[in-house]
Amino acid sequence: MRKRGIAIIGAGMIGAAHANGYRTLLPRFEKLIPGCCLHTVCDANAAAAQKLADNYGFAHVADDWRAVLDNPEVGIVSICLPNFLHVEATTEALKRGLHVLCEKPLALSAAQAQPLAELAAASSSISGTVFNYRRIPALAEIKNRLAAGDLGDPVQLMVGFQCDYAADPHLPHSWRYEFERAGPGALLDVGTHAADMARYLCGEVAEVRGAISTISIKSRFLPAEATVGHARGMLSDEARPVDNDDVMSALLRFNSGCQGFLTASRVAIGMGNALTVRLFGTKGTALFDLLKPSSYEIALFDGSGRSPFQSLYNVPASPGVAAHVAVPHDTVSVGYGEVFSMMMAEFLGCIAADRPFSNGSIADGYEVARILDAIQLAAMDGKAVKL
Ligand SMILES: NC(=O)c1ccc[n+]([C@@H]2O[C@H](COP(=O)([O-])OP(=O)(O)OC[C@H]3O[C@@H](n4cnc5c(N)ncnc54)[C@H](O)[C@@H]3O)[C@@H](O)[C@H]2O)c1
Repeated sequence: MRKRGIAIIGAGMIGAAHANGYRTLLPRFEKLIPGCCLHTVCDANAAAAQKLADNYGFAHVADDWRAVLDNPEVGIVSICLPNFLHVEATTEALKRGLHVLCEKPLALSAAQAQPLAELAAASSSISGTVFNYRRIPALAEIKNRLAAGDLGDPVQLMVGFQCDYAADPHLPHSWRYEFERAGPGALLDVGTHAADMARYLCGEVAEVRGAISTISIKSRFLPAEATVGHARGMLSDEARPVDNDDVMSALLRFNSGCQGFLTASRVAIGMGNALTVRLFGTKGTALFDLLKPSSYEIALFDGSGRSPFQSLYNVPASPGVAAHVAVPHDTVSVGYGEVFSMMMAEFLGCIAADRPFSNGSIADGYEVARILDAIQLAAMDGKAVKL
């Protein structure tokens, strides 16, 4: 019988967010999941694995992810590797009966994601794709208000994910700037969150009417030493081309008839990590900005001719707040790490209760991949693409 030790595969930037989540949640779940412990951090870069293990209290380090999956003491795994390894590592984890949370994007294409979605559907393991922004209480509230009919029927949705992590042309080249290892650039890296948010709020996309993608920084120098995430570092004198997009925009139509406009950028100066949502319905408008994660704005049609906006803040009754925020008091703000832990609490809770993960399944990862494929095709062909 497999034990349920936790392993993190990939000790880079996001591996730390997973480690932080598990560390925070362990006291709650070690009683509910027998054998649950902080077991292994695995990375090809031994120093990165050791640093993460030391910082968050994992007992072991490793450099071979297959050997970690084979270890009978490991039963829960987070896949935090570069994009091109997600499908292979998640597939191998599911085949061995592990519970697995895979970072977004699930795959480089829908064709890659489909067999994995079928495997996950047939498996008794708990599995999910990391769509952490679904757990932001304000966005969950907007979704609830839409479902309750407060905003009427959605007529137009604008979702943007603007970042500036690649705006500096002197940042080192990495797997992120190669189509072969990352897939599309901004489209797959942050457009995946935007597309998931669009589906989460407004349902299935029927058609991509048009899209544009652009590479604005066409080459970068290789690093002279190993780096993680978007870190600066010493550069070598060897330049490599960038062959995936820095910026993308797409026009969509949902099955409901609602129009959608999705944008993503990794070179938007000043926009560190800015998810914005503007949802216009027949009875009201909801606005959200990740730079103010604890609130959203809402304007409801009241017939007076003004329909003023109201700012609504987290309260203990907001989705997830009372259960997961250390100080669940009116307007006490939530941050990136807390929201990430809320998602991971749902994952561990599903393992403990043996129920499907509701925060973003492998099937959701596949559906998002279909939307991103259609956007890519529309950008290349200049034609509309039906899903
Ligand atoms: N959910 C989010 O908001 C979010 C945010 C950032 C990154 N991500 C995703 O997380 C994934 C990782 O991104 P990151 O920013 O942490 O990247 P990163 O480059 O910082 O880390 C990746 C790590 O994987 C290791 N690695 C590469 N190949 C390996 C192999 N074969 N075996 C073992 N280790 C290997 C590297 O040494 C590196 O430490 C990406 O898919 C990215 O899209 C998600």
